[in-house]
Amino acid sequence: MIRISVCTGKACRERFSAYIIRRLENDRKKFFPDMEMDIGECLCRNQCREGPNVVFDDTIASRVSPIRASELLAERVHAARRVVWSWK
Ligand code: FES
Repeated sequence: MIRISVCTGKACRERFSAYIIRRLENDRKKFFPDMEMDIGECLCRNQCREGPNVVFDDTIASRVSPIRASELLAERVHAARRVVWSWK
């Protein structure tokens, strides 16, 4: 399960965090429909100057553009699949 939280505090919202959430949801439906993931919102992470901030599991990614968010999602999915395959 991949957990993703996009900051929707004021500063990040002004930098299109809502669009990032929609984009991640669309990517999940289009490219990774079989992957378990939870995409949601989180409150301000107190790193407003670095926003928009996106938390992938326990790692915060800063200054995330919508395209970068898609790249990070793909990297996470591929990393998760590698772990699953290595256990089989
Ligand atoms: S508003 Fe996103 S970190 Fe503060």
